Amino acid sequence: MLTLRNVNMKYGSGNSQVHALKNITLDIESNEIIILMGKSGSGKSTLLKIIAGNLQPTDGDILIDGISLSKFKTSKRVKLCSEKIGFVWQDFQLIDDMTARDNILLPAFIHKKDYDVAYYEDLVDTLGISNRLKHYPDQLSGGEKQRVALARSLLLKPGVVLADEPTGALDSTNSQVIMDIITKAHKLFSQTFIIATHDESFLSIGHRTLHLRDGALVK
Ligand SMILES: Nc1ncnc2c1ncn2[C@@H]1O[C@H](COP(=O)(O)OP(=O)(O)OP(=O)(O)O)[C@@H](O)[C@H]1O
Ligand SMILES: [Mg+2]
Repeated sequence: MLTLRNVNMKYGSGNSQVHALKNITLDIESNEIIILMGKSGSGKSTLLKIIAGNLQPTDGDILIDGISLSKFKTSKRVKLCSEKIGFVWQDFQLIDDMTARDNILLPAFIHKKDYDVAYYEDLVDTLGISNRLKHYPDQLSGGEKQRVALARSLLLKPGVVLADEPTGALDSTNSQVIMDIITKAHKLFSQTFIIATHDESFLSIGHRTLHLRDGALVK
């Protein structure tokens, strides 16, 4: 379970300061699929980065399975979160000098964990990237990079998957494939998903929708 308590995020200072998240308090149960919506600039990516342990909030606290992230230094926080959480970044964050295959397998290398080879093959096959695995990111289309990023986030079947506009670079057929993969992973592995999106078709797979407006959750 994930809990956010009075989380605020302010970027910058003085006149240029942006209050990107305003007093967010939120409980997310295990096995929920949450759809996070809101206009561009409303704070969706900021919220996901904070839950991922990638960004330290200005104040407030995040608890993952009852463990408060605020007690950890950045490196420990990032390591702890990356073991429990898979992330599809809005800008993909693939490693340029690694092939698509190695990018997908990166979580297994980093955490020195075995991965489910059959699941890896199923993912790349279903995502339609099995003929792109030897390519480097700069040889892939935006949509292919996005699918590599999704495969990477799912590889180790983490308890929580955060996906920041996971279909932003995709056509409707591929978007449907991604929704099907998420629904299947949720069912098989009881994963929690938080998906930031502008795509209303995700509402059909979500259990709950959260709306952000100017950094605040709309009741
Ligand atoms: N590193 C940063 N430094 C300063 N301001 C930032 C930074 N990152 C985000 N912001 C600001 O914080 C606010 C929230 O940004 P965020 O990226 O979380 O929005 P978003 O809802 O994900 O938008 P989009 O739908 O365009 O991805 C915006 O006003 C943005 O300009
Ligand atoms: Mg964003």
